[in-house]
Parts: sequence; C-alpha cells; structure tokens
Amino acid sequence: MGAKTIIEPFRIKSVEPIAMTNFAQRDGFIRNVHYNTFLLRAEDVLIDLLTDSGTSAMSAEGWAAMMRGDESYAGARSWYRFRERVTEIFGFAHVVPTHQGRAAERILFSVMVQPGEVVPNNTHFDTTRANVEFRGGEALDLPCVEGQDLESDFPFKGNMDVAGLRQAIAERGVGRIPLIMITVTNNSGGGQPVSMANMREVSSIAREHGIPFYIDACRFAENSYFIQQREPGYRDKSVRDIAREMFALADGCTMSAKKDAFANIGGFLCTNDENLARKERELLILTEGFSTYGGMAGRDMEAIAVGLSEVLHEDYLAYRIASTAYVVNALDAAGVPVAKPAGGHAVYLDAKRFLPHVPSLQYPGQSLAVELYREGGIRTVEIGTVMFGLDPHTGEEHAAPKELVRMAIPRRVYTQSHMDYVVENVAAVHARREEIGGLKITEAPRYLRHFSARFERC
Ligand code: F0G
Repeated sequence: MGAKTIIEPFRIKSVEPIAMTNFAQRDGFIRNVHYNTFLLRAEDVLIDLLTDSGTSAMSAEGWAAMMRGDESYAGARSWYRFRERVTEIFGFAHVVPTHQGRAAERILFSVMVQPGEVVPNNTHFDTTRANVEFRGGEALDLPCVEGQDLESDFPFKGNMDVAGLRQAIAERGVGRIPLIMITVTNNSGGGQPVSMANMREVSSIAREHGIPFYIDACRFAENSYFIQQREPGYRDKSVRDIAREMFALADGCTMSAKKDAFANIGGFLCTNDENLARKERELLILTEGFSTYGGMAGRDMEAIAVGLSEVLHEDYLAYRIASTAYVVNALDAAGVPVAKPAGGHAVYLDAKRFLPHVPSLQYPGQSLAVELYREGGIRTVEIGTVMFGLDPHTGEEHAAPKELVRMAIPRRVYTQSHMDYVVENVAAVHARREEIGGLKITEAPRYLRHFSARFERC
C-alpha cells in the first residue's frame, strides 16, 4: 500500500478515437468560426472541456440496463425502476420525469412563480435565471461574500449569503417570494460546494416564513462528498446518507441527470406537495410527455437509475474530486492564475490576471479560450463579459465582475495523461501571454449572445 496515486477506479472497454490536428489547422478552424468555440465542429476538438453535461462515459452496467428499457407509453417497468431509485436517494413524495434540467425548471416556475415575484438563489445557473425571468419573475443571486475572492481557500464558497436572504425577505415581503433555491454545487459561482450548515440555516429561514425551499441538485453527489471531506461532523457518514440529509431539508428539487447521473439526457422534478405535483403533471403532459416518461425513452430512465447509484460510490467520488484538484494544483504550481480551492466539475482560469493587458471590453476570457484551442485543440468556454456584459434591455455593454474561462471535466472520460496535456498547453499559452491581444464583436444577438457571437481580432 505504498502508492499515493489515486487511480481511475475503472478500466476502459470501449474507446472513441480523437482526430489529431496541428496548430496551423486549428488556427484555420477557429478563424472560420469567427473565434467562437461553440461554433467549432466537435470532431475538430482534441480535448472537449466545453461542458460536463451529457458528456459522461456510461458504465457497462449502464449500457446493459439500456437494453432492458421498457418503451411502453404508460406505466413502463423502466419508469418504476427510475422512480424507485430517485425516491431512495432524494426522498421526496412525488417524482416528475423531464427530458433535462431546464424542462424541470420551466415546469416548476410555471406553477410557482407569478410576474413580479422574486426567487433568491445562491447563484442561478443561466437557464434557471432565464426560466424565472421568462415567467416575469426576478432571479436574485445571493452568493456568500467569501466566494468572491478567487484565491481564498474558504471550504464552502458556494454558500448562500444568509444575511442577504433575511434582508431580501424583509425588503421584498414574504408574499412576493414563492420559493427559495440553492444550487449544489454552485456552478456559476465556480463549481464550489454549499455546506450542510448553510442549507440548514436557509431551510429554517424558509420554514420560519412558510416559503418552500428547493434544491437545484445537478451535482448533488459532488456536493455531498465535499461535505463529507470538509465539514466538521461528517467524516464518518456515507455520501448517500449526507445526500439524504441534504434533501430532507428541502420541499423539492430540480435535477439534470446529464450531470451527476452519468446520463446523456434526462432529468426530473420532485416535490412533497401533492397539489403542486398534480399541476406539474398537467403541464408535463402538454409539452414533455406522459407522467411516466416525461420526454425520456424507457432506456434513458434505466441508464439514470444505474447512474444515480454509481455516482454515490465513494471510490468514484474520491477519484473525481482528486482529478479536478490535480489540474488546479498543477496549474497553480506552474504560476497560472486559477480559482481556488478546486471545485467539483470544473477548473476556472482567471483571465483577468492571465491577460491583465487586455481590457474587459476586449474579452480576455474569449481571447484565452481561442488561444487554448489554437495551442492544444482544447475547447473551453468564456464566463465573463461576453456571457454577461450586455444588458438586453438597454443594449449597453458593461464589464462583468469576473473574467473566467471554464474547463469543465466530463465524468470518467479523460485520463490523467489527457489532463497533463491540458496543463502543459495552458502553461504554454501562459508563457506567451504578452503577445495575446483582445477581440471585438462583429455580430451578436441581444440574448445569450455567447452561443452565436462572431469576433475579430482587435
Ligand atoms: N442547473 C445547473 C446548476 C446547471 O449547471 C444546468 C446545466 C442546469 C440547471 C440545466 O440543466 O442542461 O439539463 O437543461 N448546466 C450545463 C453546463 C449546461 O454546462 O453547466 P440542463
């Protein structure tokens, strides 16, 4: 037992070749798509870190379960297997299946949010925000102050600002807050975890005021593992028990099975409120599908049932969190500015410090993402002024508070040598950072412009 290396707790049975390309080819590809990484063809990418969503590798058990998929329109065996597994872990009274996370959000907010109402969240993910706003509601982000410093090693930077929540309730009025949400882990806030203590406090404030409390559970297993490792009193508890304790604090949840369920598609919505569940199912049938499949195939529900069990294996979680930390530590040691401590599903480069000579309105994050692609064929996404800088109502542009580049790590897909390759290429771009300039936008829509904007070098 002398070895210190945490190995991948699986071996590889099926592989997907990567097409190798060189710098000159990639320089042409990225120019042809106007320097927007979303517009690249996936086959022109060597290491795809655009998202951890729907990109996981399934297990042999997961694939085998898919063959058992019961594709009956109503009451399929696969639905009952899926519901049983969800209930076992999440513990809510009602499960509403959906085709992915944002469908669960749309249905939840359609039944709960009225125009002019306010939904507080530690940090809304962009589809969550868009679905609240689409209902005419206000999506209020209340991240904790410790989370704002990219360098501090506070263990739960994903927490909600509890004082801010009390203040919002006092100022806006209980009657205007239809629900309070917490997103685990806090994706837009850097993949950072939320502590049990924080969720317990938010839950008790919600109960005190009679406001329902929901969890956006996409990365619930990673969050539970962080609690086990970092929060006093949880070392001897299983991750499964921690997850159950977390959900017992809430009245319901939304879930994208494309994250912590290893599935390529799927999701669900849970609630303890029977009346609400009835309304949700009515809407579900209108746009998603019957209440025993909600837009998924039977085989998708089988894959999720297997994935939800596998994601709670502690050997897997130890490897998962160690491999993200491995990248953060290696980049930090190489002098690359990176958000710390390591989060669960992604590594965030700090483009403001990486390219301090590029002003925010010349999009340092986008420039860095372009260079990572040219250098090593690595696809990432900017989370900064391109994503958040344009006010769609006034058409005015402002610098975003942070200029980040997200390198999201698909689950069980890349090995340590892939990650070494990523680190070497980021370091190579860092070494030639002074010659990297900014970009300007030549064409972009008003809403969600990062998906389709076109750029040119300044
Ligand atoms: N909530 C969070 C916290 C998410 O990260 C996502 C998706 C969703 C909800 C929506 O789920 O994609 O199944 O509809 N995040 C992906 C990402 C897209 O790249 O972070 P969905």
